[in-house]
Amino acid sequence: MTAVIELAKLTKTYGKSRGIIDVDLQVNQGEVFGFLGPNGAGKTTTIRTMLDLIRPTRGTAMVFGIESSADPVSIHKRIGYVPGEFALYDRLTGGQTLEYFANLRGGVDKAYQASLIERFDLDTKKRFKQYSKGNKQKVGVIIALQHKPELLILDEPTSGLDPLVQQTFFMTLRETVQAGSTVFLSSHILSEVEKSCDRVAIIRDGRIVKLDTVDGLRDLAHHQVELRFAGAVPADAFINLPGVSELVAADHVMRMRVAGPITPVVRAAAQFELLDFVSREPSLEETFLAQYGNAAAAEAGTVSDGR
Ligand SMILES: Nc1ncnc2c1ncn2[C@@H]1O[C@H](COP(=O)(O)OP(=O)(O)OP(=O)(O)O)[C@@H](O)[C@H]1O
Ligand SMILES: [Mg+2]
Repeated sequence: MTAVIELAKLTKTYGKSRGIIDVDLQVNQGEVFGFLGPNGAGKTTTIRTMLDLIRPTRGTAMVFGIESSADPVSIHKRIGYVPGEFALYDRLTGGQTLEYFANLRGGVDKAYQASLIERFDLDTKKRFKQYSKGNKQKVGVIIALQHKPELLILDEPTSGLDPLVQQTFFMTLRETVQAGSTVFLSSHILSEVEKSCDRVAIIRDGRIVKLDTVDGLRDLAHHQVELRFAGAVPADAFINLPGVSELVAADHVMRMRVAGPITPVVRAAAQFELLDFVSREPSLEETFLAQYGNAAAAEAGTVSDGR
């Protein structure tokens, strides 16, 4: 297997404050690699260091077998990058912005560019500063994709995109992978990574706390369910159902944590007069707390490589 990205003990400190510490990971050619972590965990720092936009304090980052500080230009030629936060030229229209970046790449396949614009339903005539957050993000995504790069490095690419556009985005991503690209995708949403990635590294407080296949993350995923009934309902109806834990019942309302399929809970709830059913995906931070407790997950020592 060819490693497209190799990070070894990659560390970046900002003065006295932690950025990332001893980040080790390897992304193989053709895989969609998820980089999951809550706000402030170190996702952007890792990506920026990997791309030589900032210099590591110690450790190394190799992309395509090239140390990124040694020859960033040849790396940048071969990648598409969606930065976590970006500002583009306010006065250019979306269309002019895409052209500008296409020219920097020495031109792109016009038909492919047009198909991306159509697919993401981007109005290319507006000036960049007039775009909403989501539309700015669409421009960023098209810039990263339009030259069909070998490697896509995506820093929370779906932020600001509505659910329909997110679907379009992931569909497009699958196509680029089928065409041979490799993807490194950062996110703070477990379900998004679960749906789209092959392997996942979880970063928390600047350290990798888990590295596994997506299947290995199944035990992390769960829902917070709240059922509101017309009358009293016995907790016994739910307490022994598969995947149910942390059941709390009060005033005709039943709250529980459900790991895995939600069907048994839905079936049980349907036996009673149900007024409301709310199922929520907890934030990654809540998921971590449920999994590792309040102690730093960094001490969990669960780094296992699921290949
Ligand atoms: N320029 C900087 N100067 C000082 N500290 C910084 C700087 N950039 C990042 N940090 C710190 O480094 C840590 C990691 O930040 P980073 O932006 O990499 O997190 P992130 O995982 O991308 O978060 P988010 O999900 O909010 O984008 C944070 O504690 C942050 O405060
Ligand atoms: Mg970030």
